[in-house]
Amino acid sequence: CRTRLGHMESFGGVLFPAGLHTQESLRLALNVPFQETDVLVVSYPKSGTTWMQEILTLILSRGDPHLSHTVPNWARAPWLEHHYFAELQEAALKQPRVFTTHLPVHLLGPALQEPPGSRVKIIYVSRNPKDVAVSFYHFHQLATFLPEFRTFPEFLHHFLEGTLCYGSWFDHVKGWTSVRRAPGALLHVAYEQMSLDLRGTIQKVSSYLQRPLAEDEMNSCVKHCSFSSMKENKMVNYSLVAKELMDHSKGSFMRKGKVGDWKTMFTEEQDEYFKSIFESKMENCALDFVWEE
Ligand code: A3P
Repeated sequence: CRTRLGHMESFGGVLFPAGLHTQESLRLALNVPFQETDVLVVSYPKSGTTWMQEILTLILSRGDPHLSHTVPNWARAPWLEHHYFAELQEAALKQPRVFTTHLPVHLLGPALQEPPGSRVKIIYVSRNPKDVAVSFYHFHQLATFLPEFRTFPEFLHHFLEGTLCYGSWFDHVKGWTSVRRAPGALLHVAYEQMSLDLRGTIQKVSSYLQRPLAEDEMNSCVKHCSFSSMKENKMVNYSLVAKELMDHSKGSFMRKGKVGDWKTMFTEEQDEYFKSIFESKMENCALDFVWEE
């Protein structure tokens, strides 16, 4: 399948955008020399990754927005699989180092099984898959490193088949949420939790990281992690990304930031079809999703 910047390439049975990740960068990602103090944000695309990166930056800076306003999110919490990862890793990352990945567990899991990888604090971020699909569809219009889909039905078909970049949403979520890790080495956070109770979620993440916040520090985190603040912050709204990678005339990264936006896009028929696939693929999966506000 051709993309505007090149093509998708398969690695370990999963498709990746060749404009962002090379076979070499993907191989390197599986062998990152983790330190036990590292924090790793893991998600399927469009699940609230950037939001969690911002929450972590603010918690670790005790609410001081300086870093969040001066360094782009991809340099503060670099993606393991990106071709520029090695460069960013060499640039002095603050301790604890924060990394991000969309890699599925069958690829990255082995590197996280033995110390020091097994001690890395993982934060898995999920979102209800109908909103993920709608957000990802819009992102495909903007991101020229991804294939172009003319219609939402065509895109939805690929989403449900797992033939998009980063693979199947179902496999990603089931894989990462069923991984066995020591207590305190994996926290699962849902986008909808962040949306419903941002303060409570920041509290939960700060306790997980053992970084308690004073009330004024917490207030500052909440303020700078709101949708309106992040939409205005050039260091996190992706407006600094070169036109060759994102066509900013096609929409904005900080699009709507809502729970239940799928309702504006799905027909009744698509909803029924989605439900039937969801039920069969998520059978025996105890996860609960919030589908609307
Ligand atoms: P929408 O396209 O539905 O607006 P990711 O970072 O994983 O790519 O996810 C991007 C999605 O998270 C986008 O969803 C974006 O608007 C949303 N998002 C980012 N920051 C947010 C915030 N502070 N509040 C609510 N949604 C946010």
